[in-house]
Amino acid sequence: MQDLTQLRNELTASIQGADDLQALETVRLAALGKQGHLSLLLKGLGKLPPEQRREQGQAVNALREVITQSLQERRLALEEQALAQRLAEETVDVSLSVRPNQQGTIHPLTQAMYEIITIFKDMGFSVAEGPDIEDDEHNFSALNMAPEHPARQEFDTFYLPDKADGMSMVLRTHTSPVQIRTMRQTKPPIWIIAPGRTYRSDSDATHTPTFHQVEGLVIDEGIHMGHLKGCLVEFCRRFFGVPDLPARFRPSYFPFTEPSAELDIGCSRKNGELKIGAGDDWLEILGCGMVHPNVLENCGIDSTRHQGFAFGTGIERMAMLKYGIPDLRSFYDSDIRWLRHYGFATVNALSGKVNS
Ligand code: PHE
Repeated sequence: MQDLTQLRNELTASIQGADDLQALETVRLAALGKQGHLSLLLKGLGKLPPEQRREQGQAVNALREVITQSLQERRLALEEQALAQRLAEETVDVSLSVRPNQQGTIHPLTQAMYEIITIFKDMGFSVAEGPDIEDDEHNFSALNMAPEHPARQEFDTFYLPDKADGMSMVLRTHTSPVQIRTMRQTKPPIWIIAPGRTYRSDSDATHTPTFHQVEGLVIDEGIHMGHLKGCLVEFCRRFFGVPDLPARFRPSYFPFTEPSAELDIGCSRKNGELKIGAGDDWLEILGCGMVHPNVLENCGIDSTRHQGFAFGTGIERMAMLKYGIPDLRSFYDSDIRWLRHYGFATVNALSGKVNS
């Protein structure tokens, strides 16, 4: 028979002396592990005479319970201590300065385009697209501009090498070729707008070689100039957010519309400051007209049955007027300060300026 008092004292002392969880685990293994003191004692019981075995067995088991209990208590105490220490060390320093905000902005061109699309979408139009590299047929001929037509000279065209079949290729000078593509692919009724990039060999304060237009085309039975006027005046009023915006249609000329007009909106230009919607001055905003019968016939549409109107406007110009951006070229400078100033926080159609 072995007196367990000393073992008990030793084990209890090392449990209390363990000052972290790892040290405590070493103590636990030394006591209760496979080769631990208590395990060996239990294993040795078989060698004792039967009358001692019972008594010693009870004593070892009792000690084992006591030790298990103390280990458990010590573990909880050490865990609490470790947590308290972490909480003390890992405080949040609220005086740290925030990280720089790297979020970009929506380019005013994108914003204007979304606003325009939203207004026409509400009127029942859908969006159509065409290629930037066009052939002569779609960009000019089918739009009632035969090869020697003088109106072609008004477009400062970028020409590309001819196609194998001899067709001359250009960077589209306007979005009007999308009219032709749409009328040749779909039957009336047609209600589309076609926003997109356009190109002219031109560069100064009010012209850039690449710019954007949005085209509109409506073809149906019984469409007349009243529809054109109602639709475009409503568009301008919504886009500029001026419900009683004065508007006037001035006779003009485009080979692909007859009659043709230009739409002016009311503005004032006092002390070099442009105000839209007030005053006695006028500002030209877009070109439009009733689709020329030749254009309808070029697309296989019976001009005695179907009529329509079309319009086209420059998106940069609309954005400049609405958001007060003075220089067209700045749209393409990719100057981050300019983007921060004129950009929008999120594409938010028809909202005013969101940030800055
Ligand atoms: N395509 C013309 C331009 O670029 C605008 C326009 C479109 C005019 C449709 C009338 C009808 O100037």
